[in-house]
Amino acid sequence: MENKTLISANWKMHLTHLEAIRMLQELSFLLDEVNYEKIEIAIHPPFTSLRSVQILIDDMKKVELSLGAQNCHFAESGAYTGEISPAMLAALQVKYVIVGHSERRQLFEETDDFIAKKLAAIWQHKMTPILAIGETLEERDNDQTESKIHDQLDVALMAAQPKQIESMVIAYEPIWAIGTGESATPQDIEAVVEIIRSWIKKNKNEAAAKSVRIQYGGSVKPINIGGIMGAQGVDGVLVGGASIDASEFARIVRYQD
Ligand code: PGA
Repeated sequence: MENKTLISANWKMHLTHLEAIRMLQELSFLLDEVNYEKIEIAIHPPFTSLRSVQILIDDMKKVELSLGAQNCHFAESGAYTGEISPAMLAALQVKYVIVGHSERRQLFEETDDFIAKKLAAIWQHKMTPILAIGETLEERDNDQTESKIHDQLDVALMAAQPKQIESMVIAYEPIWAIGTGESATPQDIEAVVEIIRSWIKKNKNEAAAKSVRIQYGGSVKPINIGGIMGAQGVDGVLVGGASIDASEFARIVRYQD
């Protein structure tokens, strides 16, 4: 059976809750003919908009959206000023949580160990992690893409059960492609998707390697989505910049029209 396509909107630190409501209203108008049997759409707003977005999603008649978060802490609760726990997200019916985005790794110094703890906490609360991995330009130029991907998977997924991996999402996001306007080619993407599935097959099992959904992220736009989705083994995309413009994002979702 083919994996269902997952197109995720990572709004990053954009849109107030009022702007988020307007954005979703616009989107619902543009997305009402999407075939939801084939495509799942997830919205990852900032924490301050989660509740407003959740209420709107519940209320939508023709448009089906899943709710996602961009991050969380691994602890259940506690003295972690400024942090949000997985229990808090689960209580808001959050389905997906992005973990290990390169902006969090680079700007907030998150390590693979820290990311592994978050994955475990997200699973414990029955949500689905989207684990982001990818290489820098320097690593790519030095032919270190494969070893970087292996290193990230070795630590983040070491303790994960094959069944957990079956239902998770991995986003291949080359750092040099994020926010730069320069996306990876379908050939580049296919090669890394194959590296990820082979790692899972070798270290976990074949069912997990097949069922895990793998997204590509990095300068996804209406103009390149067709080629990216044509890459073998790609089950969807994680969209940053183009996801905060309703018409651009709708064109990405409706790339097959
Ligand atoms: P971008 O961001 O689409 O703006 O390149 C992607 C991401 O960071 O997930």
